[in-house]
Amino acid sequence: MSLTRALGTCYYPEHWPEDIWPEDARRMAELGLTWVRIGEFAWSRLEPEPGRHDWGWMDRAFEVLGQAGLKIVLGTPTATPPRWMLDRHPDMLAHDAEGRPRGFGSRRHYCFSHEGYRAEAARIAEAMAKRYGRHPALGAWQTDNEYGCHDTTISYSPAARAAFRDWLARKYQSAEALNRAWGNVFWSMEYDSFDQVDLPNLTVTEPNPSHALDFRRFSSDQVARWNAAQVEAIRRHSDAPISHNYMGRITQFDHFALGRQMEIATWDSYPLGFLEDRLEEPPEHKRRYARQGDPDFQAFHHDLYRAVGHGRWWVMEQQPGPVNWAPHNPAPLPGMVRFWTWEAFAHGAEVVSYFRWRQAPFGQEQHHAGLLRPDSVEAPGFAEAAQVAREIAGMPEVETAQAPVALIFDYASVWAWQVQPQGLGCDYFRLVFEVYRGLRKLGLSVDILPPDTDDLGGYRLVLVPGLVALSDPLKRALADTPAQVLLGPRTNAKTPALAIPLPLPPALPGLDVTVARVETIRPDMPIAMEGAGHVTLWREELEGTAEVIDRDAEGRPVTMRSGHMTYLGGWPDPDFLRHLLIRACDDAGVETSDLPPDIRVRQSGATRFVFNHGPQEVRFEGLVLPPAGVAWQGG
Ligand code: GAL
Repeated sequence: MSLTRALGTCYYPEHWPEDIWPEDARRMAELGLTWVRIGEFAWSRLEPEPGRHDWGWMDRAFEVLGQAGLKIVLGTPTATPPRWMLDRHPDMLAHDAEGRPRGFGSRRHYCFSHEGYRAEAARIAEAMAKRYGRHPALGAWQTDNEYGCHDTTISYSPAARAAFRDWLARKYQSAEALNRAWGNVFWSMEYDSFDQVDLPNLTVTEPNPSHALDFRRFSSDQVARWNAAQVEAIRRHSDAPISHNYMGRITQFDHFALGRQMEIATWDSYPLGFLEDRLEEPPEHKRRYARQGDPDFQAFHHDLYRAVGHGRWWVMEQQPGPVNWAPHNPAPLPGMVRFWTWEAFAHGAEVVSYFRWRQAPFGQEQHHAGLLRPDSVEAPGFAEAAQVAREIAGMPEVETAQAPVALIFDYASVWAWQVQPQGLGCDYFRLVFEVYRGLRKLGLSVDILPPDTDDLGGYRLVLVPGLVALSDPLKRALADTPAQVLLGPRTNAKTPALAIPLPLPPALPGLDVTVARVETIRPDMPIAMEGAGHVTLWREELEGTAEVIDRDAEGRPVTMRSGHMTYLGGWPDPDFLRHLLIRACDDAGVETSDLPPDIRVRQSGATRFVFNHGPQEVRFEGLVLPPAGVAWQGG
């Protein structure tokens, strides 16, 4: 399949007088945009009263945008059920952990388990697909908008409770089986029937972790089931590819499960907002990158969603200027809008689409930039988008190639660590992201793979940090691969039900290592290694006959190896991690480079991209990279 790089924007025709649509469409096309996404919040205008559709304006928007040569991504408007929907389904709201309904007046006010609302959502999706599914201007679909945004995956509503009981009954068949799986003899928590099982909120102290983890699995399944209803409705009337716009560090549902339902994965990239509110980094890091964004956070999600989309992925919303929703909302450094766009293309994006076309002077996002100001004058991001449009005209082909290094990411492990963190700060996403950052600092390109991967062919180094319960196919693939494998900490530490397995973990064939005890430690009391760096947060006592490779300053084993598998029994700080990764790469025959701190590189097919994320000029390999500088070589 030959894929081309393209640009787009998010447009809300319903926000603007119709007489400016043709001018908007003309300016979009002139700017060099190919795609325009519309519709995703427009339910109150598409169906002003239950059953009475008003397609006229949408027909005209299709006409105007299509005439200008733009391809449309049509969003289903199900993230914003109109007010009348609540009158029809007063019990459709999600409930928070305190049991309170989450009210009308913003967006995403629905519970994934409410059958009535799910049917309404599939109904509007089908009505839109019937009307526009074969329209010549339609290029793709987006279901809903940002599942999980505003903490909306998990709901403690009566609808969720009823659906959870059904889910448990299907999974366990009998209350005895559930009691056994969860270990309910502990604290006399045994049930006689599924109808006695409540949601794991409002308990006196922590609920049974097996109960909590099953609820997290259930909540994820509900999102997949909900999305599937729309996908099926759309497919009955349209052959256009279907996508959803995922987000940064939203981990409450299994994105790989949704990815299997649709052709394209997309995500919404807001680098400056994410730096402020999604990362554990210290204030000096946030100050250094305040106008550029974290050097690895966007790249991580590009690589993650490339895997979710089986290779096909877009940035559906790209930050074009200041946003409105983070603790601080600075303007990007000049050049960063172009830089972020190229970074996405370097990781294999087909489309980067800017959110939004014009800044809205009303509603919640008045201070969120667009490509145009509210008075339609070009905002600073506009010229940068125009520059990218000119640049991609010279290199339109999307390039992809398998990376030498694979990192496994598992949503169920996010939930398991959250349910049982054992210590403050012990978080699976954080651990995996730190490993990813360590790899990138060594100049490596990385593929992120799902936890059911059964073929590691072509990789030379595979990393599996913190994956709580390895699937059988992955276990086999790890045993069979000729690649170097680095596992731990906490890898294969639990049964799928979140109990301690016997024999004790990690219990991997060919690797005689046993985790005899686990402790968590204060971040300000790290344990020094014999060589570089420290172990922090999480530490395991290792036993076994495998060869001890690294020891802490007191001589206790921290890494042990048999053949191609190395087990790491602790959370490495950046210095120890660097030492581990360099050695693993040496063993694997993967070349590393010593990058200056602000530089990142990405090999994309034959082209090598170099990015300067820092606020100062950097000289590197004969290149002079200004702040926000991007360079590419080869290709
Ligand atoms: C996204 C969302 C958009 C808009 C944007 C603002 O999360 O999909 O609708 O709210 O953020 O940055």
